[in-house]
Amino acid sequence: MNTIQITTPSKNYSVFIGENAILKLNSVLENLNPSPKNLLIITDENVGRLYLDKVKDIIGESFSYETIQIQAGDNQKSFENYYACQSFALAKGLDRTSVVLALGGGMIGDLAGFVAGTYMRGIRFIQLPTTILAHDSAVGGKTGINHPEGKNMIGVFHQPEAVIYSTDFLATLPQHEKRSGFAEVIKHALIADKKLHDSLRQNVRNIDDLSGDSLLQALNRGIEIKNEIVSQDETEKGIRAFLNFGHTLGHAIEGELQYKGITHGEAVAHGMVFALSLNENTEQIGNELRNWLKSLGYPPLPKTLSVSSLINRMKKDKKAEKGLIQMVLLKELEKPYLSSYQAENLEIKLSAFLNGN
Ligand SMILES: NC(=O)c1ccc[n+]([C@@H]2O[C@H](COP(=O)([O-])OP(=O)(O)OC[C@H]3O[C@@H](n4cnc5c(N)ncnc54)[C@H](O)[C@@H]3O)[C@@H](O)[C@H]2O)c1
Repeated sequence: MNTIQITTPSKNYSVFIGENAILKLNSVLENLNPSPKNLLIITDENVGRLYLDKVKDIIGESFSYETIQIQAGDNQKSFENYYACQSFALAKGLDRTSVVLALGGGMIGDLAGFVAGTYMRGIRFIQLPTTILAHDSAVGGKTGINHPEGKNMIGVFHQPEAVIYSTDFLATLPQHEKRSGFAEVIKHALIADKKLHDSLRQNVRNIDDLSGDSLLQALNRGIEIKNEIVSQDETEKGIRAFLNFGHTLGHAIEGELQYKGITHGEAVAHGMVFALSLNENTEQIGNELRNWLKSLGYPPLPKTLSVSSLINRMKKDKKAEKGLIQMVLLKELEKPYLSSYQAENLEIKLSAFLNGN
């Protein structure tokens, strides 16, 4: 098992990553001060079915706990479920010493983190990520829920006490979820690590090549990159925005499709290809990325997507300023920057991009 130290202005904590890292859970809980009166495990129904008993067995009699299971799917990162979790926590008597365990992928991590970040003005939580994507989402303290008007529109920065990333849990991920998580690995490589990018391009010819040591190494590196950025800019006043590479369009696609039929990472993958097409220096990288993603089985976008609706959503992106849409682009590999667009200009480019797909 490897340990990566995350260093942010508000909190330092460890990511324990590797096979059976989950066995570390009780010792992490025992080291908390004050000791938790009780725990609230928040998970979704898929992960609950697969791993809840294992986590409960590990906790055993060491701590008392309550469990709440949410339906799976990004449309469940909702105000209704947030409210249901808060009501449940109040009904079960959680107090300010209690600790939330977020057992699941990014959906659960974001929702449970937001519940913890706001319950009684903020209680502690631990991320127990179960997807490849969550190498990104479990680290860095962004928590929140979606609003029908836009993704992740309501939330707080709230760092976990620890991240326990038991990579044996990844074995049950369906193919499209592997693809989803891999998109965020590719994102980290494109914005910050040419060597990782080149090695992934060379070695990942099939989505099942993402396993064992090579997957572990990519996840470790992705977490290190995230830490390098978040440690300098915890609350996204500057360079943290680079982590949104591919997300301005990606979030708009997810929203337009009502978070169904496409995963977060698959939508971000299209967003990255689009962003690369906007600078002629990176057009070629974008074309190669598009072909590589296609060969790995990333699905095409539905033809029914409306360009003007996507642009309207992009205007509401959290990075948008003074009516301009802000896109993260690359000058070259490892060199991200922000570029502002008038909506009308971007609409023309997006329309050409979608027609060419
Ligand atoms: N907070 C951040 O910094 C940050 C960063 C990136 C993404 N995100 C958010 O993360 C979310 C996407 O995360 P995700 O892709 O992990 O989605 P997810 O949590 O919805 O999980 C995807 C699917 O896989 C299932 N699943 C999870 N673990 C499994 C396992 N081990 N075996 C089998 N099935 C499993 C889930 O039940 C779900 O159906 C989005 O809401 C996105 O906005 C947040």
